[in-house]
Amino acid sequence: MRGVAFWFFATAAIYVAIGMVWGIVMSATMDHSLSPAHGHLNLIGWVTMGLFGIYYHNVPEAAETQLAKVHFAIATLGVVLIVPGIVMALRQDGEALAKAGSVLTLISILIFVFTVFRNRAKPA
Ligand code: HEM
Repeated sequence: MRGVAFWFFATAAIYVAIGMVWGIVMSATMDHSLSPAHGHLNLIGWVTMGLFGIYYHNVPEAAETQLAKVHFAIATLGVVLIVPGIVMALRQDGEALAKAGSVLTLISILIFVFTVFRNRAKPA
């Protein structure tokens, strides 16, 4: 695995390592109040980013485009804003960060939808 595929998968692995430590801390302290933020870190950070990594590994022509790099930047910014944004929203400290992260995460998925269709295999 290399290039954008590597970076999607490597950062996803880091997110799940952090997410699991967070889950263990929640269990140990019996404070589950931030569990939606933990869930989103794992599901967007690990599952979604990891799937992007596997996709780009399997479709190298998609990974070699400038759009793939833009996709990685937007998806990464989305995760690093939405997770603390959910923490802030849960603590009633404001929703602006969660909103910004949500929009970036949606843009990331729209780029992915476009990429999947653009790189559809030609009929034999
Ligand atoms: C060491 C690994 C993990 C531990 C110890 C852990 C622990 C926890 C705990 C204590 C909760 C709160 C449960 C509750 O209040 O009912 C939780 C919720 C959750 N976890 Fe994890 N977790 C781990 C890994 C993961 C992974 C890998 C994923 C997803 C890929 C995940 C997704 C979720 C989701 C979706 C929720 C519910 C969030 C919500 O309440 O809105 N967790 N986890």
